[in-house]
Amino acid sequence: MEIIEIIEKTRKAVAKAKAAGKKIGLVPTMGALHEGHFSLIKAAKKQTDFVVVSIFVNPAQFGPGEDIDKYPRPFDADVKACKKLGVNVVFAPTVEQMYPVRDNKSSKSDLKSTMAESKVVVSNGMYPEKNLTWINVEKLSEPLCGKSRPGHFRGVATVCAKLFNIIRPDFAFFGQKDAQQAIIVQRMVADLNMPLKIVVCPTVREKDGLAMSSRNKYLNAKERKDAVLLYAALQEAELFIKAGVRKSSELKKEMEKILKISKQIKVDYISIVDAQTLNEIKEVKGQVLIALAVKLGAARLIDNIMLDVE
Ligand code: PAJ
Repeated sequence: MEIIEIIEKTRKAVAKAKAAGKKIGLVPTMGALHEGHFSLIKAAKKQTDFVVVSIFVNPAQFGPGEDIDKYPRPFDADVKACKKLGVNVVFAPTVEQMYPVRDNKSSKSDLKSTMAESKVVVSNGMYPEKNLTWINVEKLSEPLCGKSRPGHFRGVATVCAKLFNIIRPDFAFFGQKDAQQAIIVQRMVADLNMPLKIVVCPTVREKDGLAMSSRNKYLNAKERKDAVLLYAALQEAELFIKAGVRKSSELKKEMEKILKISKQIKVDYISIVDAQTLNEIKEVKGQVLIALAVKLGAARLIDNIMLDVE
C-alpha cells in the first residue's frame, strides 16, 4: 500500500492501475476511521480492483463555530487499518495541496509543508478562502443539515468534485449515514455529467443501534447512553408507519417523545422529507427520508432511515 500526499503522484499511481485494466474505487473520508468507513472500503474492494482511500479533513466544509482543529486525526491507526483491508493507495493531501494559494510563488514550499503547518493555516481559514470555484448543489443543500450548517455542503460538493477529478474513480463509495451528503453528491455527478458511479452503503451501527461516527468520541458515558435514543426515535417512527400512521406531524411528535427521555438532548431538527427532493412532506408516501440532528454535549449527532411507504 502506498501513502501519497502529492496530487501528481496519486494521478500516476491511478493511471498505472487504469492502464492495467483495473477498475478504480474511491472512498473519500476525513480519517478517524471506524467500522462505518471500513464497510465502504470492503464494498470498494468487492466491486473494484484498485481502491484509493482519501483522508483529508476538509476545512471548506467546517463553519466558523465548528472546531476543525479538534477533529480527531489518528493517522497512523488509519493507515494501519487501510493496509489490513487491502487498500492500494491512501491519498492524504495537505490543505496546501488541495487549496493552494495560486497567486503567489510558493508552490514548491507548499509541497513540502507539514500537517502541523497546515493546521495553523486552517485556523486562519486562509487557504480555502483563496479558492474561487465552488460547487453549490442548489435546493438539496438548503434543508436539514444545510440550515444549521450554511456553506457545509458547498464545501463537501467542491472537495468531492476535486477528489473525483484527481483520482478519476469508476466508483465512489458513500454512507447512508450522511444521507443528505450522498443525495447531493449523486445529484452533482448527474448534473455535471461526471463519469463515475456513486455507491451508497448502509449505515453501520453499534450493537445498541447508535450509528457509528467519528464524533461519538466526544460523548461522555452518560451522553453515550442517551445517544441510543436517536435510532430509537427513528425506529418508533417506522413502527407507527407500519401500524398505519401517515401524518408526519403525528410521527414527529412520537419521535420527540423518545428524544425527550434525555434532558441532555437538544433537537436541531426532526424532518420527514421526500427522499429525492428533500422537501418536507405532510403525509408519508413513496420513498421517504426520516432524518434528525441533535446536539448532545459537545457532539452534533445525525441519523436517518429511508423507507418505501405504500
Ligand atoms: P467522514 O465523516 O469521514 O465519512 C466518510 C464516509 O463514511 C461518508 O460517506 C460517510 O457517510 C461514511 N460513514 C460514516 N459513518 C458511517 C456509518 N456509521 N455507516 C456507514 N457509512 C458511514 O463524510 C465525510 O467524511 C466528508 O464529508 C467527505 C465525504 C469525506 C468530504 O470531505
